[in-house]
Amino acid sequence: MILYPLVVGALGLDHRAAGIFLGGTIHDVAQVVGAGYSVSPETGDSATIVKLLRVAMLLPVCLALGLALHVRGSAAAHAAPVLPWFAVAFAALVVVTSLGWIPSTAIEQALSSRDGASSRDRGDRHEDLAAIARRHGNEAGHAGGARNTVPCRRRPGSARVEVKVWRGGETGAYQSFEVPRGESQTVLDVVTYIQRHLDATLSYRFACRVGMCGSCAMTVNGVPRWTCRTHVDKVAREGKLEIAPLANLPVVKDLVADMREFFDKWARARGHFKPSASRADPFAQVKPDTRERIEADAGIECIGCGVCYAACDVVKWNRDYLGPAALNRAWTLVNDARDAGQASAWTPSRAMPAAIHATRS
Ligand code: SF4
Ligand code: FES
Repeated sequence: MILYPLVVGALGLDHRAAGIFLGGTIHDVAQVVGAGYSVSPETGDSATIVKLLRVAMLLPVCLALGLALHVRGSAAAHAAPVLPWFAVAFAALVVVTSLGWIPSTAIEQALSSRDGASSRDRGDRHEDLAAIARRHGNEAGHAGGARNTVPCRRRPGSARVEVKVWRGGETGAYQSFEVPRGESQTVLDVVTYIQRHLDATLSYRFACRVGMCGSCAMTVNGVPRWTCRTHVDKVAREGKLEIAPLANLPVVKDLVADMREFFDKWARARGHFKPSASRADPFAQVKPDTRERIEADAGIECIGCGVCYAACDVVKWNRDYLGPAALNRAWTLVNDARDAGQASAWTPSRAMPAAIHATRS
């Protein structure tokens, strides 16, 4: 794939001719696409079309060859079949899927088991992430939940959850949806189902799905939560969910809150690390059982989700209040033995000493 663009350059082919050359000579589809687009978008387009034409011609060519062999051998006792069985099966599958005869649930199931297999391949690292997430979730008191958004196995019967989802910006309104109930279904699964199956314009955020990134936080039935770790079973009231963006922050669209104010306050709290050593110095060793490490441990697990900020009434009443996460970050650095200058910056004469000292007591 790397050499083909060099060959094209050496032959002096223009973009279209290069595409025809690559699409007509490379066997593997992925390599055709990779080599084509590494030359230019036009070459990539031409190469892809030529390759797909080759693939589409496969069946007619097989048919023609099968017919020719059948005619030639028809006099023999065992004439060759007109088409090989795999070509017939392929054509039948194309017809069946094109006519929509395979139920979407069966396709979802197949995709689910495929994704399940690939996530098993990721194995150990995934398990590590889940273990860390479980620990964090337990310590922070957040509700537990599934690790990914692979479609949940549906519950038998026609159980559904009625969901009201905030749509629009600050002046939007709730829109109602009905979502099939699934086993171990999380609120993030519900939102993802709506976006994938009912309304693709729904905006929301998520990334890790295991309670590590903090991006999926939303208000669920009036309470801010990590939606990837919140089971529908635990929070649905009479089979109903009301999902909104985080409170105390501007709304960008639908379930997406504007987090700038939240993180700007981290900067205002001076929550940045100031090194006391250079990269030439040996690594600092702060042993787990020392007072320094124990003090820092208390606040080190914050993932910046904004749940505490959205739940904080003081933030609601006083927009200048930095909020729990920013103060927690500053507090962590005050206690970080490797940090230079934070402790002296946070003297009782500074902006928020009362909050810091209140946390200490
Ligand atoms: S932002 Fe707040 S709620 Fe979220 S992890 Fe940090 S301290 Fe906890
Ligand atoms: S998606 Fe990362 S914490 Fe929920």
